[in-house]
Amino acid sequence: MNVGNGKGSISWQELFCREQKASECEIIIFGASGDLAGRKLFPALYCLHECGLLHKNTRITGCGRHSFTLETFRDHISGTLFNAHPSTAQEQEFLQKISYTVLDYTKEEDFARLADELVTEDKKYKPFLFYLALPSPLYIPAVENLYKTGLLSEKYGKRRVIFEKPFGFDLQSAVSMNRSLKDLLTEEQIYRIDHYLGKETVQNIFLLRFANRIFEPLWNRDHIAAIQITAAETLGVEKRAGYFDQAGIVRDMFQNHLLEMLSLVTMESPEIFSADAVRDEKLKLIRAIRKIAPADAVRAQYEHYTEEEGVSPFSRTETFAALRLFIDNARWQTVPVYLRAGKCLGVKKTEIDIIFKEVDKSIFPGINKEDLQRNILHLSVQPREGIGLTLEAKMPGPKLCMGALTLSFDYASLPQSGTETLDAYARLLLDCQNGDQTLFIRSDIIEHSWQLYQGLLDHWAEDRKSIIPQYKQYSEGPQEAKDLLKRDNAVWIDSLYRK
Ligand SMILES: NC(=O)c1ccc[n+]([C@@H]2O[C@H](COP(=O)([O-])OP(=O)(O)OC[C@H]3O[C@@H](n4cnc5c(N)ncnc54)[C@H](OP(=O)(O)O)[C@@H]3O)[C@@H](O)[C@H]2O)c1
Repeated sequence: MNVGNGKGSISWQELFCREQKASECEIIIFGASGDLAGRKLFPALYCLHECGLLHKNTRITGCGRHSFTLETFRDHISGTLFNAHPSTAQEQEFLQKISYTVLDYTKEEDFARLADELVTEDKKYKPFLFYLALPSPLYIPAVENLYKTGLLSEKYGKRRVIFEKPFGFDLQSAVSMNRSLKDLLTEEQIYRIDHYLGKETVQNIFLLRFANRIFEPLWNRDHIAAIQITAAETLGVEKRAGYFDQAGIVRDMFQNHLLEMLSLVTMESPEIFSADAVRDEKLKLIRAIRKIAPADAVRAQYEHYTEEEGVSPFSRTETFAALRLFIDNARWQTVPVYLRAGKCLGVKKTEIDIIFKEVDKSIFPGINKEDLQRNILHLSVQPREGIGLTLEAKMPGPKLCMGALTLSFDYASLPQSGTETLDAYARLLLDCQNGDQTLFIRSDIIEHSWQLYQGLLDHWAEDRKSIIPQYKQYSEGPQEAKDLLKRDNAVWIDSLYRK
């Protein structure tokens, strides 16, 4: 099929396989001296610049209390990005886009000064994109000051605000933040980020499910026995102990990343691939998840966690959790979904495993149907990005010699298409500049995802007596996570042992 673009016709592949360049924009990063800005945001913006996806007139303003001058801030970014000094014209060009404004997020007069810098004849018609790379208690004061100084008014151009995760600390704070924002911004101006959604393999779930014939007829309780999602890290709390010890792994990973992946795997097909149609289906799915029973949840802490710098010696914060969930709808009723995530484990990997039911009957003499390898579809999110499908197959040797074989492909092994793969933050920063909210979280979804976990979080907070299981650092996690599945006669598909 060819698509007309006013300049002759091009194939739909050419249309969709080309990144849409960002329009001219003013990007303002609050918290520009912080960890996220240095490690993720400036590298992502440089990546867009390098790929020719950042408009040549786009300017980036770092903001914060830190008293950088223009020169010292550019030196700071140059040190972070280029190890010292820019060595190419492209690097030099990128640094020239950057400026810095000293600002206290709670002072209206500082925002008035920022408004004077931004709302000028040459800038005011551009979209403004404000990125709140700040601790979340500062979100509302910062947005209130943006509002009071007219920086959110769309009189001249689009005004968008990106909110980092976690959006809220619990259901009550997320609802309260959404309520406050309603008076200051429209939902179309709000971009709540979950960087997992920017990953190539997570977006691929849409295509795998809805652009192929072979999976969808099998994608239900009649054919699928269970779903497992694992997000394992080898790192401990590192420099984020202050935040993590308050939050724990359920707030840090389950409420956002794991639930987002689960909803993409299990939601119904949206009518069309558009931001609201996709998010409507996700919401329906999250609402259909049954309340989590404490008996279906395991929490644990890695050994010596309480000795980490910045962690309370009496901390009961979970660094590992495993949950069993059920989705009460016609497609998934009775199919257990197992989620687990943890720090300081034997491997770093994020993977989704769809485990199919066994065949109805074995026709092979002497072999029971239970003896045959079940089909498993592995969706690897990181560090490997790819897909595997495990099959029972004929092995070389005697006639009935069978064994498991995996059909697999890795994104890394694909031939270079000439199009750079964008990292998750670059993808999301590009989408936001282009006004595409498909990969961002809507207010109702955030609230329902907090609601799903709130009962469990409250139960754990009230329970001051039970012993929190410990697990060895760089191990598979606690035995209790295995026991959770043993009750269903199941095992975790993915090993967390270091190979
Ligand atoms: N770092 C990550 O890998 C990561 C990953 C996912 C999500 N996030 C989220 O992204 C946001 C930023 O994370 P981050 O790690 O970059 O945070 P951070 O380094 O702790 O803080 C970012 C900046 O915020 C300002 N700030 C910090 N505490 C403040 C306070 N009490 N009062 C006023 N200003 C304060 C500081 O800038 P000035 O002093 O110059 O104003 C600081 O450089 C957070 O919401 C975090 O949860 C971070």
